[in-house]
Amino acid sequence: MAVSAVSPKIVSVVGARPQFVKVAPVHHEFQRLGIDHAIIHSGQHYDDSMSSSFFDDLALPEPAINLGAGSDSHAGQTATIMTRLDGALTQLRPDVVVIYGDTNTTLAAAVVVAKRSEVLVHVEAGLRSYNRRMPEEVNRIAADHLSHLLLAPTRTAMAILAREGLADRSRLVGDVMVDALRYVEQQVRVSPPTMPDGWRSGGEYVFATIHRAENTDTEMRLRYVLERLGSMHDDVRIAVHPRLAIRMKDARIVQPPSVSLWPALSYHQTIHALLGSLAVVTDSGGLQKEAALLARPCVTARHETEWLETVEAGWNIVDPQLITSIHDWSRMTRQPLAEEVFGDGHAAARIANSILHQVGTARD
Ligand code: UD1
Repeated sequence: MAVSAVSPKIVSVVGARPQFVKVAPVHHEFQRLGIDHAIIHSGQHYDDSMSSSFFDDLALPEPAINLGAGSDSHAGQTATIMTRLDGALTQLRPDVVVIYGDTNTTLAAAVVVAKRSEVLVHVEAGLRSYNRRMPEEVNRIAADHLSHLLLAPTRTAMAILAREGLADRSRLVGDVMVDALRYVEQQVRVSPPTMPDGWRSGGEYVFATIHRAENTDTEMRLRYVLERLGSMHDDVRIAVHPRLAIRMKDARIVQPPSVSLWPALSYHQTIHALLGSLAVVTDSGGLQKEAALLARPCVTARHETEWLETVEAGWNIVDPQLITSIHDWSRMTRQPLAEEVFGDGHAAARIANSILHQVGTARD
């Protein structure tokens, strides 16, 4: 672990939509502190709507290097990122590499850096679904166990890391998505983004996103999910992830009349759609939490959630069969989520400080 004593050079490796959101507050904090921070984009997400719109919305600089990995099998995508990242790191020569969340990009970077000399830092450490069939679960376990510094979003995550013998390497920093959300929420409330053609603001609707393999990758399950969504409300709006579009097209599935399909939304558009909604149905980790933070009831179309706090606070129902009704929603909590749960919106400052402490160059 060779680290320059003066000011470390830091590289963040990201590649998928939620990681662009997580790196934004961290990048801006490093900038504020005058730390040299570059972004490597794996290319896991590459469509404009899945990638560059997030860089624009979140005022992120162009990535220093884009590895252009693109779509492939899990093994193929991970292997491509690994091979190309190794060369990119040799070129950029950072002291510290920061990885985020639980995607194939996270896993690839963890394995590569673990065999190099850089300090490896995992942001959003300690999340578990305890479902090993989820690719993300495998990715996050490997990332946590390979990292030198584990930055956890919640007390629950800290307790999980302690149970796995990782307490010494773990720090509670709060959830960096709160930082991003609060920043963008303010902007969206002042100047609402242009929504896709035909989107009606106002009125009551349910906002939905479905993209996980468990919901999209078998035809029977996907048909079931869309049918159930159709019966939940007479205006259900799905922001369509490419994986869902591909699976619907392949299986020639047509959505029920009460369900409308919209392109994948930018981050500002997503937060605007959320703020205008009556309730949310999703299998996304991020959206469950954003719904709770913006006081919108959420139904999670999965068997489990990593964000138990949203369930305990009464904002989230884990319901893989999607049998929750609008009456159930109306009974859900109306209390905003306490700040202690996911942090105060200053996680990025704690992340930067923890990293600087780790490499022995802490700053105020
Ligand atoms: C990935 C992450 C998941 C995260 C999600 C956010 C893994 C294992 N999963 O899932 O944790 O919640 O990102 O969106 O890393 N595609 C495009 N254009 C794009 C990106 C993807 O068409 O810009 C299509 C490809 O056909 C690809 C499919 O979508 O095969 C799935 O993309 P992939 O990156 O494999 O995983 P996600 O489902 O997006």
